[in-house]
Amino acid sequence: MKKHSIALACLLLALAAQSKAEETKSIAAQTIDTLNGLSGGPHAGMRANHAKGVMATGSFKPSAEAASISKAAHFKESVDVTVRFSTGTGVPMIPDANPNSRPYGMAVRFNLPKGGFTDFVGISYDGFPVSTPEDFLGLLNAVATIGKSTEKPAPIEKFLGTHPAALAFVQAPKPAPASFGTQSYFGVNAFEFTNAQGVKRFGRYRIVPVAGNEFLSEEEAAKRGNDFLMEELPARLEQGEVSFKVLLQLADKSDVVNDASIVWPKERAIVELGTLTLSKPVANGKQEEKALAFNPLILPDGISPSSDPILLARPLAYAVSVGQRSK
Ligand code: HEM
Repeated sequence: MKKHSIALACLLLALAAQSKAEETKSIAAQTIDTLNGLSGGPHAGMRANHAKGVMATGSFKPSAEAASISKAAHFKESVDVTVRFSTGTGVPMIPDANPNSRPYGMAVRFNLPKGGFTDFVGISYDGFPVSTPEDFLGLLNAVATIGKSTEKPAPIEKFLGTHPAALAFVQAPKPAPASFGTQSYFGVNAFEFTNAQGVKRFGRYRIVPVAGNEFLSEEEAAKRGNDFLMEELPARLEQGEVSFKVLLQLADKSDVVNDASIVWPKERAIVELGTLTLSKPVANGKQEEKALAFNPLILPDGISPSSDPILLARPLAYAVSVGQRSK
């Protein structure tokens, strides 16, 4: 009996110590732990999210209108770009057609004329399921209990029942594209743009394929190989360049600029910032992917972050993943 109560006391102490350690762990570190748990990771050398990718290089040519939006250097002259397309989740071998791999990702590094760079890091869906990093962790933790929890209602039902934007995100159709080059990508977080005259406005990026959006039915997608999107891009580039328009959706005065879960109305003005043209796959892409770390908050003069807490949380979460995958 005595032995049992000592064992119980030890267990309670261990649990208390563990919950104290969890409390002191940053939201970013807890999020990476949950992402790792969901993907059966950490997987050596791989990203904790958007683990599977393919890369290409090309250029960005600004439109005549771009400089009226921002004085950023790449809105005045053409620059080289490096792009990484990815499937969602931290599962390195996830089949490209698996619905869990959506939304897909597109990350663009604009190499600035006088050195340095700035990044776009977007997804193939206009909107984010939650408004704060705490809720993102809550959502992922609820997803992690699917099939394991016997609670009624299940944690995921509770979460979606109290977070309508997350429910809308989960339920929205997200068809697989025929190609990474026939899919639109959305920046989701707002930034503030300042032009040479000091005029400021908020906007959200979207990058749309010049070839148009082309999607597959679930039946067609399921018939494709596990890596069909990863393999299609280099094959498409052998046939010719792949171009996208880089656009900016401008906020109205009434629009919420610090909540990525609130989609702005379709009627908002959209300006064309320029054309992004991919010309070649990256030959040693797998090595290059490891070396690259995108960060949506490395910004040139003329672009500033909004106060969106999801945007502000991203660099730390990405740094934890980079630290893990660099070991
Ligand atoms: C709090 C919210 C978020 C967290 C915790 C998070 C977490 C992560 C992590 C850990 C990585 C891997 C980073 C690396 O190892 O280099 C990543 C990559 C990525 N994330 Fe997020 N993310 C968040 C929000 C977003 C949003 C709002 C978007 C898009 C609008 C996004 C799009 C992407 C993409 C496309 C990648 C892959 C970048 C690449 O190709 O290297 N994420 N995210």
